[in-house]
Amino acid sequence: MAVRPIRYLGDPVLRQPAKKVRQVDDAIRRLVQDMIESMYAAQGVGLAAPQIGVPLRVVVLGMPDEEPFALINPVIMRRTGTRRLDGEGCLSVPGYRGAITRSEKVVVRALDLRGKEIRVRAESNLLAQALEHEVDHINGFLYVDRLDSMADLMKLDGTDWSSAHAVAPSEAAAPVGGASSGLPTHAHAGPDADTGD
Ligand code: NI
Repeated sequence: MAVRPIRYLGDPVLRQPAKKVRQVDDAIRRLVQDMIESMYAAQGVGLAAPQIGVPLRVVVLGMPDEEPFALINPVIMRRTGTRRLDGEGCLSVPGYRGAITRSEKVVVRALDLRGKEIRVRAESNLLAQALEHEVDHINGFLYVDRLDSMADLMKLDGTDWSSAHAVAPSEAAAPVGGASSGLPTHAHAGPDADTGD
């Protein structure tokens, strides 16, 4: 088991749709252990395999005060309602947070670490937000792609993107590498997660 370095915006592995896991075997279980360690080392509440450079459809979630768990090949089955969240962050985009619209209710189907199909349901909480965020990752999307406007992206020192940068944040202009300040990911919201099934 090992903490692996986090890949940052600009790394192509974050932009390619990750591959489906064919078999949930010991190699996948070891990957999950590394992902959980890496997530906690970076003080995140979720991590997708591409974020440590592994292009597979594997995510881990670690809600505050709850046991971490893994989802293999997660698929969002249903999302309903919308809510505005003003502090989403990502370990791969250190130093920034964004105001973003997410779903109220999210239902995900996935395999667990024994290869058994599970469903995870979450509503109006951090888990619901993290499920959408992490499934985005394995499809090659980052939360910054979901911003309505660049004015919704805030640098953690309090200035927004448009005042801090003269140009729109293309991948090239975005904070890449070096800036690994180890800041917490994702937003506030309560930790009362219903992990379903
Ligand atoms: Ni992220």
